[in-house]
Amino acid sequence: MLRFSARVVVVTGAGNGLGKEYALGFAERGASVVVNDLGGSASGDGNHSSRPADEVVKLIQSRGGKAVADYHSVEDGKAIIEAAIKNFGRIDILVNNAGILRDKSFMNMTEQDWDLVQRIHLRAAYLITHAAWSYMRQQKYGRIIFTTSTSGLYGNFGQANYSAAKMGLVGLSNTLALEGAKYNITCHAIAPTAYSRLTQDLLPPDAEENLKPAFVMPLVLYLCHESCTDTGSLFQVAGGWIGKVRLEKSSGAMVRRPNKPMTVEDVRDNWKDIISFATPLHHSTQAEQVTHLWDAIRKMNNNNNDDDDKVLTQTFS
Ligand code: NAI
Repeated sequence: MLRFSARVVVVTGAGNGLGKEYALGFAERGASVVVNDLGGSASGDGNHSSRPADEVVKLIQSRGGKAVADYHSVEDGKAIIEAAIKNFGRIDILVNNAGILRDKSFMNMTEQDWDLVQRIHLRAAYLITHAAWSYMRQQKYGRIIFTTSTSGLYGNFGQANYSAAKMGLVGLSNTLALEGAKYNITCHAIAPTAYSRLTQDLLPPDAEENLKPAFVMPLVLYLCHESCTDTGSLFQVAGGWIGKVRLEKSSGAMVRRPNKPMTVEDVRDNWKDIISFATPLHHSTQAEQVTHLWDAIRKMNNNNNDDDDKVLTQTFS
């Protein structure tokens, strides 16, 4: 059985839905959990309440687990990490989960709808992760989860603000996976689907039964276990199904010819190849995609016979 004894976990937005399930799961397996939740509405409007976090803490404690409640907004990320240090002496695992929705068609989206969603999902994830980062670096151990969404990966009508913020988290996770590698800090992004107060009106009738948050929780716990050393991945997870998602690039076309102006017609005439995924490419690192680009440029230049092109080829090599 995978245990988290002596590990300290912060789960943001742990008073309801997915976050609650993670908090219960970590606590059941021996972790000390900071149950963060400001007890707000699904849209981030209105009053806050300590009740959701308190109830999760009570439930954990009634089962013999260790947990404290924290009522800060994720925008006060530093204070949430300090709650982990003050109560349990360290921070090993951070699950960035808190979230709100302010869905509107782009035409009707106000600056407030845009800003609030960016602040709670993207900026706050930066703030709290930054606060945890120095502790994790120092102790050379950390496990971080970012919660993205299929709305970002595939787009979703009425969610321009949310999609943009959620894709921002994928970029953040990719880069932190690189920066954290030598400190044994891993980062992943997950795109879950689960029946919760955020989604109950959007999902089909059998979703409550088939898309339980409990079917997402085991992946999050596995990714956060010390035995899992993978990093920098993106997963889609729902209803018990788990798969990895990655970027794919068409094999494309070099439409430029040596010493010739590159034209709009060059693009048109090669369009079929530019968009063809018949033999797709996948680069897992920045270096791989740079190498692929320069190989294509060199190949194009090497196909050239006149003198000017020789000069160009020398410049590239
Ligand atoms: P939920 O509404 O059930 O739970 C979110 C919790 O976050 C709430 O308890 C809320 O009080 C808390 N919260 C909101 N703003 C906060 C803030 N500023 N500071 C602290 N806590 C705050 O929602 P659910 O469905 O469990 O969502 C969890 C995460 O998963 C969110 O980031 C959401 O965007 C993401 N997600 C959920 C999907 C789903 O199908 N349920 C789909 C894709 C992503």
